[in-house]
Amino acid sequence: MEDKNRIDEINNFLKFDKLPVSFRLLFLVTVTCLSVGFVFNLTQIWESHSGEGGIFGLSAESIRMQYYGKRDSSILESKLKTTMGGFATDAEKETIIKWIRSGADEAKYNSEIKPITEKNCMVCHGQESFRPLIGYKEIKEVTNINNGMGFKTLVRVSHIHFNGMTFLFFVSGLITCFARIGSKKLKWVKWIVIIAPMIAMFCDIMSWNLAREYENGVYIVIVSGAVMTAAFFTQMSISAYQIIRSFFI
Ligand code: HEC
Repeated sequence: MEDKNRIDEINNFLKFDKLPVSFRLLFLVTVTCLSVGFVFNLTQIWESHSGEGGIFGLSAESIRMQYYGKRDSSILESKLKTTMGGFATDAEKETIIKWIRSGADEAKYNSEIKPITEKNCMVCHGQESFRPLIGYKEIKEVTNINNGMGFKTLVRVSHIHFNGMTFLFFVSGLITCFARIGSKKLKWVKWIVIIAPMIAMFCDIMSWNLAREYENGVYIVIVSGAVMTAAFFTQMSISAYQIIRSFFI
């Protein structure tokens, strides 16, 4: 019983309003920077998906394209119908799409396709560009079916996210440990608030694998991503509010 009282006492001591000012200031600037950083993460996701599939902003379709691909079409064809659509006339696009569907052979490339791409695409897809489309070999690569994210890319983004975001949510969770959430009876509310972002992140990253294999896996990606974002900002707003308030009481 005595032990339990001591634990309660320590617990009550480890709260924002009982911490030295130096800790509270450090926590407050950390909360601010982490939150702004997270907004940039979200902006980056928005930016990289917007326009994809011809749809403005973030959509299930564009996320599906990223992970699962568009298996009834090639990268070149889907790009010509979306973000690259403005760089060729309808007749030119039709010629290219017909060529892709008929097997994309080299002879026809030289006679019909090369003149179109040289005229319309080289400004951005020349030799030195991020995606040269200068000859048959290069174009042929983007006429293959769009199978979504390759395993190598998936492993790379997964390990970066796992390492980076575990660290992020450890810091945000640790700071939130000093908040007053729930009551003595409802301790579990706080426990959930502390671990929710990390668990949602785990589901999110694991579901990328699923979304590569199953078209509808994309909905798990979306739900876990949304839960993760909501859980993170819940932590940050409770912490920021309680720290700021602690300076005035
Ligand atoms: C004004 C610059 C510009 C022009 C002109 C342009 N593109 Fe692009 N292209 C881009 C950018 C930027 C991207 C990357 C963003 C995206 O995928 O939408 C891209 C991506 C692509 C991709 C996807 C490459 C990949 O690896 O995912 C293909 C294929 C493509 N373009 C084909 C074309 C074709 C064909 C033309 C000519 C009809 C063309 N582009 C004209 C800028 C341009």
